[in-house]
Amino acid sequence: MDIPIITSAELTVSVHRRGQLPPAQLPEVAFLGRSNVGKSSLINTLLARKKLVRTSSRPGCTQALNFFLINGQWYFVDLPGYGYAKVSRETKARWGELILGYLEKRPNLTALVFLQDPRRLPGAEELFLWEKFMSWGRRVIPVLTKADKVKRGERGKRLKEIAAALAPFQVTPDQFLWFSAATGEGREELWRRLLECLG
Ligand code: GTP
Ligand code: MG
Repeated sequence: MDIPIITSAELTVSVHRRGQLPPAQLPEVAFLGRSNVGKSSLINTLLARKKLVRTSSRPGCTQALNFFLINGQWYFVDLPGYGYAKVSRETKARWGELILGYLEKRPNLTALVFLQDPRRLPGAEELFLWEKFMSWGRRVIPVLTKADKVKRGERGKRLKEIAAALAPFQVTPDQFLWFSAATGEGREELWRRLLECLG
């Protein structure tokens, strides 16, 4: 499989309200997960752009649904993270309404890349979201991020525990992909899976 050559990647719109969503005309992939899990960094790595998407060591960095137009062909949508105690009540409410509504109803959303830190177990938020995604029939690509932080010898155990917690949602260990923005591990495999969805 060849990773596509990225000729253009630009932030076209930051959505804070439903009315700002761009027309649902191109295949779209959304990247979601807990605050600080590495969503924005993963997008930069996929696109081989160091600073296209703003990242930060402080959680709560991404505050809007940021639509990146890739090669004029697809949208990659970087979502604000959830689960960070210090975000405003307004941001939390937005997760409930704007983001969940988007994830449920967006007709051209062809896949969700769901990031999980392999050093922790899925929490209440993850279980809630997996349940929703299954009931909506969404295609989900589960990704274990910051793979560089987990020793090879520990990976099997981590993966088994996480997959076991998600077994009620028909998630099996073989679906997970290890990814590292620091080393580039998993980049090719993630592109392969994305291209299956993007056509
Ligand atoms: P929010 O926008 O706040 O929801 O966070 P995010 O999920 O977009 O995380 P972001 O990409 O901003 O990364 C958070 C922190 O984790 C930054 O300090 C990154 O440098 C670091 N980080 C992201 N990916 C990796 C990785 O694969 N390995 C390591 N070691 N650090 C990473
Ligand atoms: Mg972010």
